[in-house]
Amino acid sequence: MAKKLVAIVGSYRREGIIHQAVEGVLRQTRESGHEIEIERIDLLDRQVKFCTNCRVCTQAAGEQPGLCILQDDMAGIIAAMAKADYLVLAAPVNCFNVTALFRCFLERLICFAYWPWGRRSPRVRSKRKDKRALLISSSAMPGPLQPFLSGAPRALKAAADLLGARTVAVLRLGGVAVRKKERLSPKVQERIKRSTAKLLL
Ligand SMILES: Cc1cc2nc3c(=O)[nH]c(=O)nc-3n(C[C@H](O)[C@H](O)[C@H](O)COP(=O)(O)O)c2cc1C
Repeated sequence: MAKKLVAIVGSYRREGIIHQAVEGVLRQTRESGHEIEIERIDLLDRQVKFCTNCRVCTQAAGEQPGLCILQDDMAGIIAAMAKADYLVLAAPVNCFNVTALFRCFLERLICFAYWPWGRRSPRVRSKRKDKRALLISSSAMPGPLQPFLSGAPRALKAAADLLGARTVAVLRLGGVAVRKKERLSPKVQERIKRSTAKLLL
């Protein structure tokens, strides 16, 4: 049976660094020779409302994500991710964390946690890590500094953890905010190739 890859894109720029990096991963996936169905979800094109902290979705026990009371595209996104074997979670660093677009999506993943009233802190529903995740972030600062000077790597990892995905590769693309139309260098393309190979192992 064909496997499935779902890419969640949390960038505002359609031709930006995150877009190019995700497209690179998807191209490598197509060329890998594996039979993999690909779905790309640009959060910019979807309606994902703000979490209201009502916690209705966290009250019932069980492995399945709780039902959210908000009516928008999130249920469809969750359904797509549930079928995925591979996840690509990608967002730029904005103001020392992931974009508001990705953060809004992340908060809505609280339905993957069990947190009834009376309990101090949430617990991730599923202990199974049956998906593999590649995390991609881009920034003005050098990539290796992202975990120290921003919360973006942690936010992307939190999303993977909630979704029951094991983080098997990370791409932190730094120093990419100088030119308006920055193009990924051959060196970065090579890193994308290696990260995709790790993801699809
Ligand atoms: C509003 C805004 C805030 C930003 N904040 C940061 C930041 O805190 N740290 C950083 O290194 N880069 C920051 N950047 C640079 C972006 O991370 C960088 O341009 C990134 O590549 C944008 O992603 P994109 O190319 O997919 O649009 C910021 C850019 C903007 C426009």
